[in-house]
Amino acid sequence: MKKLISTILKKEKFSIPPIWIMRQAGRYLPEYLEIRSKVDSFLDLCYNPKLASEITLQPINRFNFDAAIIFSDILVIPDALGIKVKFVKNEGPKLEAINQDQDLKKLRTDNIEKHLAPVFETISLTKSKLNKEVALIGFSGSPWTIASYMIEGGGSKNFEKTRKKALQDQKFFQNLIDILIEAIIIYLLNQIKAGAEVIKLFDSWAGILPFSEYKKWVIEPNKKIILELKKHFPNIPIIAFPRGSGVLYEDFAREVKMDCLAVDQNLSPRWIKENLQNKFDIVVQGNLDNYILAYNQEMIEQEVSEIMDNLNHKNFIFNLGHGILPQTPIKNVEKMLSLIRG
Ligand code: CP3
Repeated sequence: MKKLISTILKKEKFSIPPIWIMRQAGRYLPEYLEIRSKVDSFLDLCYNPKLASEITLQPINRFNFDAAIIFSDILVIPDALGIKVKFVKNEGPKLEAINQDQDLKKLRTDNIEKHLAPVFETISLTKSKLNKEVALIGFSGSPWTIASYMIEGGGSKNFEKTRKKALQDQKFFQNLIDILIEAIIIYLLNQIKAGAEVIKLFDSWAGILPFSEYKKWVIEPNKKIILELKKHFPNIPIIAFPRGSGVLYEDFAREVKMDCLAVDQNLSPRWIKENLQNKFDIVVQGNLDNYILAYNQEMIEQEVSEIMDNLNHKNFIFNLGHGILPQTPIKNVEKMLSLIRG
């Protein structure tokens, strides 16, 4: 069994943990930038199976990671629902914002499978080329995080519009979340059918919610999606990443039936060990800070030791706490790998 899968399913314990990094296929790699420069629109790249598959394999060929994550984006879901999505250079994603009941009527879940067929093709193509030791991860954004991009019309610092809408018009918000749950389930079931061996759910903005809202918009939707995936594929390993949850990670761990919990860099390795890994006996994945990886060689050494000393005694996958930054020197990634693998 592949090292990553065996670790997530707690079949085996390895002295060197499996490792991969978030956004491992991306702009810190010259070979990615070369392909990127030939295609105008980022989404066109996501919907080009040949190129997307080539990009997915780039970090595996260079670093021999234990997992490949399919090259795509969390915002293909609103795109597939019929919302225009664009990625504007140096500004990030821009979406046609939604904020009233009328807008929900335009969202089409019956086109998900067809619209996202190129992603499924990327998965089967990549699977056919992948080294047999490397696990293939499929993914989706989680409802709360995708909803925030749809309501804000893009990224945001404090998600003012989204917070306000969720508090003032719960019915609208619940309807939107339900549509997203349905779309995400269709999307992920098809990824598994196409060959994805592990699924990861990115709830990147989970951390901005207070407890009561967190339960409604983070715990409940992730729980529903995971239960449904497990109903069809009981053995599919699922990683959940409710980024920035702080102490609410404990509530998440208690209520959601994921196989592995990805943790960000705001939690200390000791806290993760005591309050998640040991208390719930779950597999954890994380959590080297992406800025330290980019900017401080000495600290990489200290942090990697602290993470390994606390977490590698059992049920552990090495990763970053958030996506690798485009400015990260390749040699820092190599250093991190040699510290872990020897
Ligand atoms: O290697 C991988 O991890 C797989 C591919 C992947 C991308 N995005 C490629 C990408 C994955 C898993 C994502 C997830 C994603 N996308 C998240 C969740 C994880 C997180 O970072 O919190 C989020 C919030 C997004 C939304 C998104 N996509 C933003 C905000 C941006 C623009 C900001 C930026 O970094 O430029 C993107 C664009 C994006 N997604 C790029 C890549 C490689 C850069 C686009 C380019 O090359 O022009």
